[in-house]
Amino acid sequence: MDTLTGLKRSHACGELGKAQVGQTVTLCGWVSRRRDHGGLIFVDLRDRSGMVQVVFNSEMGEEQFTKAESLRNEFVIAVVGNVTARSAETVNANMATGEIEVEVTELRILNKAKTPPFYIQDNIDVDETLRLKYRYLDLRRPEMQRNLMLRHQVAKGMRDFLDRNGFLEIETPMLTKSTPEGARDYLVPSRVNPGCFYALPQSPQIFKQILMVAGYEKYFQIVRCFRDEDLRADRQPEFTQLDIEMSFVDDEYILSMMEEMVAELFKNALNEDIKTPFLRMTWDEAMDKYGSDKPDLRFDMPHINISDAVRGSNFKVFETVLQAGGVVKAINVKGYSNIPRRELDGLVEFVNIYGAKGLAWICYTEDGIKSPIAKFFSEEILANIKETTQAETGDLLLIIADKAPVVAQALGALRLEMGKRRNLIDENKLSFLWVVDFPMFEYDEDDKRWVAMHHPFTAPREEDIELLDTDPGKVKAKAYDMVLNGTEIGGGSLRIYNRDLQEKVFKTIGLTSEEAHEKFGFMLNAFEYGTPPHGGLAFGLDRLIMIMAKRSSIRDVIAFPKTQSATCIMTQAPSEVAPKQLRELSIKTAVIAKK
Ligand code: AMO
Ligand code: AMP
Repeated sequence: MDTLTGLKRSHACGELGKAQVGQTVTLCGWVSRRRDHGGLIFVDLRDRSGMVQVVFNSEMGEEQFTKAESLRNEFVIAVVGNVTARSAETVNANMATGEIEVEVTELRILNKAKTPPFYIQDNIDVDETLRLKYRYLDLRRPEMQRNLMLRHQVAKGMRDFLDRNGFLEIETPMLTKSTPEGARDYLVPSRVNPGCFYALPQSPQIFKQILMVAGYEKYFQIVRCFRDEDLRADRQPEFTQLDIEMSFVDDEYILSMMEEMVAELFKNALNEDIKTPFLRMTWDEAMDKYGSDKPDLRFDMPHINISDAVRGSNFKVFETVLQAGGVVKAINVKGYSNIPRRELDGLVEFVNIYGAKGLAWICYTEDGIKSPIAKFFSEEILANIKETTQAETGDLLLIIADKAPVVAQALGALRLEMGKRRNLIDENKLSFLWVVDFPMFEYDEDDKRWVAMHHPFTAPREEDIELLDTDPGKVKAKAYDMVLNGTEIGGGSLRIYNRDLQEKVFKTIGLTSEEAHEKFGFMLNAFEYGTPPHGGLAFGLDRLIMIMAKRSSIRDVIAFPKTQSATCIMTQAPSEVAPKQLRELSIKTAVIAKK
């Protein structure tokens, strides 16, 4: 094996082009592909910046050429050579450096490599488990490198923007007390305080508010958060937030500054022009029209309430639902009245998964209405439905009747599914909106109590404060979520900054005064020492990058992510620990050790 001694890399592979023709360069990288043409060997040499073709000619001397013959994929090499222009017929238009190649005069093999378990290239069709096990190889693939470079660029753009606007980056503890963001905590046992545990932060929420009490006025942090919750494609047990808080501002100020920041990030990283101000929609409207608090507005197809149109029919299902206070809603899938029967049957099963008991449909065909339920409706009701939904010949109505939340969930999912199937989603579109005026609380049927929809530090609207005692379900919060293409990429609120109101909200969510003091006494105390009005929000950095990089999983934009079962396949974490460690921590586990 050779060493690098005496050689100094002069260029990155990807930066070479016509400008360097005639120069002698020194390159380092990995052998990406090797083609042996007898007296000529072509190698695509890859480093982080890209790829360039280097050529070994047998005229370079036998010892050197024999070495070149021994090259295999992923060997680590250094080459010295001359940059030459390729002849017109050998220019490779698919390669950024395709106009040139490097004629090698010296080769050093710095390291060998075993044959990788998959190709180090884009668009591989490989099980993700294998990619995660060999993450160091997966991360060598150009598309993964692009994702992480984009992530760096965006994080830097955030820091630049916030610095320019007077924000300070301040770190907050990882070993701390529980912060209520609605998930389970990850706990860390304390050795020196036997039986006591730290909680890893679900967010820095309490600390950033205390920083406002402490007079820091504008804070941000790119920070890891930990939540033990059911994982999905856009959820990781540890994920990164851009966390922001500011004092002496109203919600208008926060929303417009954040729009400005996001527009700048998209412009700088992707050269996309984002129109501001963003659309704003109340939570009530989002739920009513799209059945979701994070509607994907890249296409429309709203939910249409046809309760009044169908009232008084002979169709028992609808009548029973309406009499019980439920709703009947439809979506109009334009131009799809010729949907195959088999697909309709599949859609019934689809909505069942989301809790709907059934799905009705009306096809407006050239030969009139086709529908299993039309026979229950008078001409007048049929005309009402058509008018309410503005259905035309060729359209398909899909209808669900149930309690409002069930309809929202099932018809919301169906809307997205039909949007995908009918190709209505323009993948190049960026559809931003703010969802505002969230309910302050939602009722937890299992626990039989009200819980905070965002977190309990969110301020209620002034005009709703008196409802806290009488009708918590009606209280709206000064909270806002930023939604992009149907994903919640950020959320925040104006905060409570008055001790009495904070105590009242704790009471509403069922915390006794003692519990509130035990958990948040330090915060309530802080509130008595001159707390400025403040508010903020946090972006899900991973989710934002996922969308910017056009990926469908946040795992693709995180260097070392975890699986759906919260494990790291590469390191095998979590793992059992030595009995001695447990003894030191005063911990006994009830799990029988695996053989
Ligand atoms: P919230 O809980 O809405 O707010 O979190 C803010 C944003 O973080 C992202 N996010 C996640 N991303 C990946 N994996 C997860 N498990 C995960 N959970 C949340 C989302 C979300 O919009 N302290 C408040 C913010 C505030 O009020 O200022 C908070 O944490 O994109
Ligand atoms: P049934 O009377 O159960 O045979 O239902 C008649 C039609 O109404 C079938 O097409 C069902 O799929 C549909 N249907 C049943 N329940 C609902 C519901 N909750 N919402 C919408 N359509 C329904």
